Amino acid sequence: MILLCDFLFITGNADLNFFFFFFLLFSSFFNTHRTLSLMHCPQERSIINNSLTITTTTTTATGKKIVEKQDKENEVSKEWPENGKIIFQNVQARYRPGLDLVICNMNLIITKHAKIGICGRTGSGKSTLAKLLFRFLELENGMITIDGRDIAQVPLGMLRSRITMIPQDPVLFAGKLRYSLDPAGLYVDAQLWSALEAVGMRTFAEQSKGGLDTDVADGGENLSAGQRQLLCMARALLEKPRVLIMDEATSNIDGQTDERIQTMLKEKFCDCTVLTIAHRIDTIMWYDRVCVLDHGTVLEYDTPSILAERSGSAFGALLEEYREGKREGKEQ
Ligand SMILES: Nc1ncnc2c1ncn2[C@@H]1O[C@H](COP(=O)(O)OP(=O)(O)OP(=O)(O)O)[C@@H](O)[C@H]1O
Ligand SMILES: [Mg+2]
Repeated sequence: MILLCDFLFITGNADLNFFFFFFLLFSSFFNTHRTLSLMHCPQERSIINNSLTITTTTTTATGKKIVEKQDKENEVSKEWPENGKIIFQNVQARYRPGLDLVICNMNLIITKHAKIGICGRTGSGKSTLAKLLFRFLELENGMITIDGRDIAQVPLGMLRSRITMIPQDPVLFAGKLRYSLDPAGLYVDAQLWSALEAVGMRTFAEQSKGGLDTDVADGGENLSAGQRQLLCMARALLEKPRVLIMDEATSNIDGQTDERIQTMLKEKFCDCTVLTIAHRIDTIMWYDRVCVLDHGTVLEYDTPSILAERSGSAFGALLEEYREGKREGKEQ
């Protein structure tokens, strides 16, 4: 090609424009050739692939490798989850190889914005179900989708930042009250105060010397479990998640705090899907549905009133036991 060009130029059969055009053609040939050769070189190929997909590998408790491949074209949108519709499809999970399945073929459809009470005997799988949503435990089989997206394919950090959990006994990091409410420093003081007011913690903060800069001891030891849950709820109010999982405190929570939490859920989280792992069974009587778990399967799933009235229902039995305990003055 070079020789042909030289020949044409020297013999006067090509002008400068032709020479320039030829140069472009020539360089583009080599660029194409370089791209093609890169694709055959393993290291370079991964660079090319990485520009199109993000691949992360995690290993489950059972040693199973989960490869998350996320097409950039199919990236998780900033709004996901938009509605909070959750589907468990033939879900199976176990804690370690050799141990029994703790969730066996679970199928559950949770509609958007629904308030779902999860109950069942101790060891029935309630907390495990929450762990699966956060992928603290990976599935052995089946799939969980939130708004149509398989959560196994959502990058872990992103998944955990898009759904919110209020644990049974929250542990707060030592620091200022404002840090517990807003660890990333995203909100102005007025928003923090209004969130505190909504959960009934404003007076507490006002009466503490430091206001928003009140010290929270390591683990939140200078606050009661109920106050720690309320602070988590204030944080959730600021974050406005589409999916909120609440593991109800079993003790150390007074009736007033309990009532406040339920009012919060009703009023402030109406466009959020709420899953409450309920220990105080009567708090979920206003919920859309109750899911009773038994040995890792869904035993009953219906409205609380239907289940309570159905003769021989497991929910009816749990409710009766709870009320009986309350009458006898036992802590539930
Ligand atoms: N880390 C773990 N390793 C092994 N098995 C576990 C682990 N955590 C829970 N399990 C088992 O998984 C099953 C379900 O436990 P899970 O904690 O989900 O029950 P739960 O319904 O939340 O009970 P509770 O009402 O007592 O909180 C139980 O058989 C339990 O023994
Ligand atoms: Mg539990």
